[in-house]
Amino acid sequence: MRTLRPLSLLAALSLTLGCQDPLDAPSTDAGSVAPTDHGAAPTDAQGLTGDATPGDAGDPLATENAPLTYTPEGCMHRVSSLPGTINNVLGNRTVFGPMPEPRNVHTSWPAEPSTTVAIAWQTDNQTRASVVQLGTSPTMLDQTAVGSVSTGGRGNTEVTIHEAHLCGLRPDTTYHYRVGGEGHWSAVQRFKTAPAPGRTDYDVNFVVSGDSRDNFTTWRQVQERVVMGAQQPDFQIFSGDAVLLGTLQGAWQQWFTGAAASQAVMPWMMAHGNHDALAINYLLQFAQPQVDAPEQSELYFSFDYGPVHFLFLNDTPLRDDYAGNVAGTQLTWMRADLTRARANRARVPFIVAVHHKPCFASSRHSSTTDTVFIRTTWAPVFDEFGVDLVLNGHEHDFELSKELDGRGQEVSGRRGTRYIVAAGAGAQLYELQDGMPRSWSAYYESVVNFLRVHATMTRLEVTPFRLDGTIIDRGRVTLTPRPM
Ligand SMILES: [Fe+2]
Ligand SMILES: [Fe+2]
Repeated sequence: MRTLRPLSLLAALSLTLGCQDPLDAPSTDAGSVAPTDHGAAPTDAQGLTGDATPGDAGDPLATENAPLTYTPEGCMHRVSSLPGTINNVLGNRTVFGPMPEPRNVHTSWPAEPSTTVAIAWQTDNQTRASVVQLGTSPTMLDQTAVGSVSTGGRGNTEVTIHEAHLCGLRPDTTYHYRVGGEGHWSAVQRFKTAPAPGRTDYDVNFVVSGDSRDNFTTWRQVQERVVMGAQQPDFQIFSGDAVLLGTLQGAWQQWFTGAAASQAVMPWMMAHGNHDALAINYLLQFAQPQVDAPEQSELYFSFDYGPVHFLFLNDTPLRDDYAGNVAGTQLTWMRADLTRARANRARVPFIVAVHHKPCFASSRHSSTTDTVFIRTTWAPVFDEFGVDLVLNGHEHDFELSKELDGRGQEVSGRRGTRYIVAAGAGAQLYELQDGMPRSWSAYYESVVNFLRVHATMTRLEVTPFRLDGTIIDRGRVTLTPRPM
């Protein structure tokens, strides 16, 4: 069973003392999040789908507190409840607690983005009903699915999340949906599926933001800016550090409120940041692909979206196990994934990695031990497999690197990798570490920012924006496919 790293006493003290970034030198204090003792409402088995494997059916509480694994109806992927969670109930349509109105409703991709989606939302811990109504018109939600619910954390970290996985969707199609159950529906929101694999006429747009952390006013303004204009992004990537500390559910509530404008209309995919702290709150609230390594499920994964292969990595491993994880299991998985992606370049020409701590940046963390470890471990692999672009957070600023080899030396002719820090969407901005950019830097600006990226089979265009909507012109970059 996976153990989750809660806030250590040392980190908590650092936070109350106002330390700038206490989790940048994470503690080694590990422990498990124990189940809490809740009254449990009876289950309603009528909506069960797939091959659910709950515990002893004779005792409702034992059943609900047992782990849950199931294959959602029509899906190829399995879904497992997170270790340490309770109230694991699948398929309920009718049980509502005192605060059943769905909050923080949002979508993500747990599997192939052209045909699947996961919808997640929060309620009180007694609501079991997990119903989704879906359709291609906002006034005709003619498909129904029923998902599962889980509760994690305890005390003021407790969070109850419903999650429904839908499969067999039509590619490149806008779907409208609402969630909850009869009498307690959310507003109607929407998302668009990815274009079908194997096309040549891709026209893909996505947004990148990161490090909202502790200024949710700026965060909301960034997200309102993201959805302005005629060109709506297809989805958004977040580069980590959503909140000051991932176990603080009150902060998550503010984060979701700030993100509501864009989460209502597009899926999000998250890279885990050190401040997210591997908290059960982070892991529960975002339904992401579950890979075979149980300790890293939903933390590293990959998927193709149109002309781009995305590789999401976690650079804040459990118990700070950099050798066993960053340089071990995750590195092995990454190399296998990149081997497949490189062989598929004719169909999917661009490879984009996303993780939190940048290998090559010029600000506060550029010489810290964890950064140096990631730089020396992952950058040579990005170089070896021809990763085109690496998107990062952690440094609260914007920075574009030169075209670099695995040691940070400038190269040319589309032989290298570009690194972009897109962070500071609320967190206090950072200045240059030594008063000047490092040798690998092409452009740096200490400014609230986000990226718009446009991708076709022949171009990957990155345009960084300031909060006021102006373009960071010297940070723009256009990549063409590598010569094969
Ligand atoms: Fe940060
Ligand atoms: Fe960070």
